[in-house]
Amino acid sequence: MRTHYCGLVDEALIDQTITLCGWVDGRRDHGGVVFLDLRDHEGIVQVVVDPDTEAAFATAVEVGYEFCLRVQGKVRARVSVNDKMKTGRVEVLASEVEVLNAARDLPFALHENPNEDMRLTYRYLDLRRPEMQRMMRTRIRLVQALRRRLDAAGFQDIETPILTKATPEGARDYLVPSRVHEGEFYALPQSPQLFKQILMMAGFDRYYQIARCFRDEDLRADRQPEFTQLDMEFAFVEEADVQNYVETMIRDVFAEVVDAKLEAPFPRMTWHEAMRRFGSDKPDLRIALELVDIAEAVKHVEFKVFAGPANDPNGRVAALCVPGGAELSRKQIDELAAHAAKHGAKGLAWMKVDNAQGGLEGVSSPVAKFLDDKALAGILEATRAADGDLLLFGAGAWGAVSDFMGALRLKVGKDRGLVENSWKPLWVTDFPMFEHDAEAGRFVALHHPFTAPKVDDEAALKADPHNAVSRGYDMVLNGAEIGGGSIRIHRPDMQNAVFELLGIGPEEAEAKFGFLLKALKLGAPPHGGIAFGIDRIAALMAGTESIRDVIAFPKTTSAQDLMTDAPSPVSAAQLDELHVRVAPSASDD
Ligand code: AMO
Ligand code: AMP
Repeated sequence: MRTHYCGLVDEALIDQTITLCGWVDGRRDHGGVVFLDLRDHEGIVQVVVDPDTEAAFATAVEVGYEFCLRVQGKVRARVSVNDKMKTGRVEVLASEVEVLNAARDLPFALHENPNEDMRLTYRYLDLRRPEMQRMMRTRIRLVQALRRRLDAAGFQDIETPILTKATPEGARDYLVPSRVHEGEFYALPQSPQLFKQILMMAGFDRYYQIARCFRDEDLRADRQPEFTQLDMEFAFVEEADVQNYVETMIRDVFAEVVDAKLEAPFPRMTWHEAMRRFGSDKPDLRIALELVDIAEAVKHVEFKVFAGPANDPNGRVAALCVPGGAELSRKQIDELAAHAAKHGAKGLAWMKVDNAQGGLEGVSSPVAKFLDDKALAGILEATRAADGDLLLFGAGAWGAVSDFMGALRLKVGKDRGLVENSWKPLWVTDFPMFEHDAEAGRFVALHHPFTAPKVDDEAALKADPHNAVSRGYDMVLNGAEIGGGSIRIHRPDMQNAVFELLGIGPEEAEAKFGFLLKALKLGAPPHGGIAFGIDRIAALMAGTESIRDVIAFPKTTSAQDLMTDAPSPVSAAQLDELHVRVAPSASDD
């Protein structure tokens, strides 16, 4: 149908007759001559249609944006060279123009920035845009680079089931009703976690899979209900074996795919240090700001908001120094407070430092009246605030304060242009094994229930679960958690102990994970692994904030596919066959 790609026409083809296929990206009429920009996945070339070629001209006059054309013509040097275009030194003088298909009533102009709902509804048009083609191709090259490396290194690419049993990763399951087994359901995998562990028990030694995962959770720019992991598992390993291998792999693919140099080795930080210094378990190290603890300085003050948490071992009083922030208006500070509130703050105290040497006279702050000279001196010393700086204070429970102060740190960093243009990877390690869910009154696993604790002794684990540290690790890049993994429990007694601590009794454990417990009793090797978020890595590589830009057919934040209109109702007959009856929720009355 064609002889060449539009985007690859160059001076070597001058005087040759070629045939191109593509879409009309632009059209200009100049003194009786029609100029068409013809676009395919390689790029754009200028086509000139002269009135002398009557049939071609008659067609060219009629075509509009996004018409699909086949053009035959001769390549010639362009009189006015366009250095911004890859093909800018040549053009094609058309002898034939054939409309392969018209495009009438375009819902939006591809060159303008259409809103995302329109883009998702007409995703095929959206994906035609060169920017989308570029981002999707970055993802394709990433996956190719990973596969090539892992295949060469002897990893076994093995598929695991999609119709399966629940694999808990902290989200809700997507369920599929069984037609054959009335009242029974498959769950879509939140990850291939248990299958990859069982593959190690089955003797495959090194496994990987580019695996689709399904999680029914609150969606955001970096979270989709179905997403893709590079899932890996290794037998007979400890943390360093997995970490060293995948760190090199990630460094190499970043160099290969986007020519990015990631430092070696990646810095390592415990979870506790990350929370203390950056208020996040995935700190963005491109921002130089750090949280500072000021409890010592305010323990003695009357102000309960500060003194309470300062004297509570589970409390925290933290400050964030915003360099030059004293220039912020009340409105801007209120916006920061609103942002903190969105992340769980009950209030946000602040202080403008006008003259650091001037004592309480030298600062302006709604809480200055609650402080004394000693407290102020302690705060200024700990934060090293200088004249013209703004201090933001968070006080309350350790975790909550860390979270909202961490969120503020990110906002301040972005708002004030303090995000360095660089790649900042790190490992976060030593996560707590469990989080206490106050509402449910029980522990939940911070990673997943199959992660090994550092103590290799059930009794010691049970004696102090609050302080148990796991053998989990996350890889973080520029503030995004791009991968997470752990050394797994490989002894049944330890697995039972962890289930018990998570409130999963023997019966429930047997019903949900009996197959795993059985396998653990039959010579399971020590093993561990990791899974990377392909969508997140691709988004970082492509330089976009949203993983939707590197997923061909993503869902909206309300988990809809606007193009196909999924999810959608099904017929009563189909529901009957599946033994399912829909019970309208109370709010639908
Ligand atoms: P985890 O739950 O940390 O670990 O997931 C691994 C990585 O997958 C990515 N990710 C997501 N990406 C897009 N949308 C989502 N909803 C989403 N959820 C997670 C993240 C994350 O780091 N089985 C374990 C891995 C293991 O222990 O080996 C697991 O799934 O980049
Ligand atoms: P209040 O006594 O609650 O009116 O608060 C006095 C000042 O302390 C106000 O500026 C509040 O924004 C601030 N504040 C209240 N709660 C907190 C908190 N948990 N952390 C930081 N500042 C707070």
